[in-house]
Amino acid sequence: MKFEGAANFLKVLDFSLDSQSKRSAGLTITIVLIGSISYALVPYTLQMTINSLSVKDNHAFAMALASMLLLYSFGQILSQKGQSRALLFIIDVNRRFGVGFMGEVVKLPISVIITHGAAKIVQIMQGVRASNQSCLQSLLLVLFPTVVEVVVACSVFVALKDFLVAGLIVSYLVFYTMYSFRRIKVLSGYQKETVIQTMENARSINNFISNVETIKVFNAVKIVEEKYLAEQGKIFALWQGFYTKNLLLEVVRVTMFVGLLGSVLYVSGSRLLADQISLGHFVMVNAYLYQVCRPFESLIRALGTVAEALSGYAPFVELINPRSKMSQTSHGGTTSYPAVPLSTASQFEFKHVNFGYDSTRQLLLDFSLTLRSSDVLAVTGPSGAGKSTLVKLMSKLQLPNSGSISINGVDINTVSDSEFYDAFCVVTQDVGLFNDTLAFNLRVADPDASDSDLMRALDNACLTEVLRKLPDGLNSQIGERGLRLSGGERQRMTIARSFLRRPRIIIYDESTSSLDEATEARILKNIVRIHADKIIVLITHKASVVAYANKVLNMTDEARTLHVVKPAMIHDNV
Ligand SMILES: Nc1ncnc2c1ncn2[C@@H]1O[C@H](COP(=O)(O)OP(=O)(O)OP(=O)(O)O)[C@@H](O)[C@H]1O
Ligand SMILES: [Mg+2]
Repeated sequence: MKFEGAANFLKVLDFSLDSQSKRSAGLTITIVLIGSISYALVPYTLQMTINSLSVKDNHAFAMALASMLLLYSFGQILSQKGQSRALLFIIDVNRRFGVGFMGEVVKLPISVIITHGAAKIVQIMQGVRASNQSCLQSLLLVLFPTVVEVVVACSVFVALKDFLVAGLIVSYLVFYTMYSFRRIKVLSGYQKETVIQTMENARSINNFISNVETIKVFNAVKIVEEKYLAEQGKIFALWQGFYTKNLLLEVVRVTMFVGLLGSVLYVSGSRLLADQISLGHFVMVNAYLYQVCRPFESLIRALGTVAEALSGYAPFVELINPRSKMSQTSHGGTTSYPAVPLSTASQFEFKHVNFGYDSTRQLLLDFSLTLRSSDVLAVTGPSGAGKSTLVKLMSKLQLPNSGSISINGVDINTVSDSEFYDAFCVVTQDVGLFNDTLAFNLRVADPDASDSDLMRALDNACLTEVLRKLPDGLNSQIGERGLRLSGGERQRMTIARSFLRRPRIIIYDESTSSLDEATEARILKNIVRIHADKIIVLITHKASVVAYANKVLNMTDEARTLHVVKPAMIHDNV
């Protein structure tokens, strides 16, 4: 399990770093190591200084003193330098990871995102960042310097040539290591559970906050609190169990150390009593005992911190696991394909498509449909019939179970996302608005649009009046999910976005459902005018919208029938 954690850590590092930052990490480690070696050598120069004083050698004394001061300063400065470089490196890793992570999330199937929930996904990212911080800090600032300290302390000990005591200390270190690995294993298990539970808790809290109005008006605080209190209590119960176990583990550790201390003191004390060693030797044995054991224990503790932190990577690796991506859609497809001239796409086709979210209910059964440029298709049908599902299939957000969906004869799931979404635009039923300015929300559709392009799109979406009322014009903040706008204004914002694109195929999923008749009619005319000679799909319950179509697909539960109708409103009314 530890190795799996370490592999995940390396995967995350590889994912977050480019070759330049890897080189920079190498340099940081070198600086930290040289600093630690210089520092650890200071006691040797002190020894040299004392020796030169005892033989009254002026020259050797000056040299020893100078090297001691130099090593001390060098060690201090390099450690400081290494430390600041390491901390900056950690910030940089987390920054790069954050950006890369968002790119990975975009590639995930929508259903995976729905299942996890936004808050849990944010927690997964924060978990990795916290793990990066712990792992890298322990490795760079504790583990490497302590290894140097242990090596130096051991060499001092070898110089003492007391093999019986050395044997006792080595056996202690072996037992201590075995015990520690056992403890780390137990602890990591608890840590992993905590990470998973913390993410679930984040999901609950997000659920609570995003529904706070509902909870208020339905007086539902009690039922929600009870549900969440039980969930939040799981971590408490988990760690209660650990600390009981931990007490036993501590008894084992203290017993081991007391055993070592007692036996070393007994052996050395007996020798002192038998006049085999001097009092100085007896004192030195104790000093060296601590000098070997203390850094060794910090080393193992640092390893423990790393092992604990490694558990934070598992949920991330699981989330971006290719298996979970493959199972639902190929939305993340990055392969390149035969040059399909999508910029001139003129045909969109469903051929014998079958689809159901689960095997119990098929929403599309052997479904076929062909759309060509200038077609305006209206899709009608009762709620839950599968209209939005049809949109998801057309937009490559969901894979059909069988059959093919193609654009100019090429299966859409073999076309790269970037090429596909250049030619394809969908205004979804859920208004996807960012908690940012009006301008930012529009430029999502076209980053290069000028302010006057934005104004024109707003005008075509009948939003000019709304813009005039906003305090900072295009730079006005629209709030979380656009909640500072009315329901109809939010819908018109997403329609305005669609006017900033030049797609070949465009779908509006009930995009005018909240609008009054006059505004709806003006916008629909603009839609068919701006996107003339493209393929337009209008999902709707309203006869007033169907009137703009030349083809109507009725998605009743029994049959998916396509009627070709005379376009009633399209050209004569524009
Ligand atoms: N991600 C999903 N996982 C499982 N079932 C789903 C999922 N999304 C939708 N469904 C189910 O599929 C059916 C069709 O849903 P869809 O959203 O396509 O309906 P719709 O025709 O657009 O309805 P409405 O007019 O209410 O928007 C519904 O019964 C719905 O419960
Ligand atoms: Mg729908």
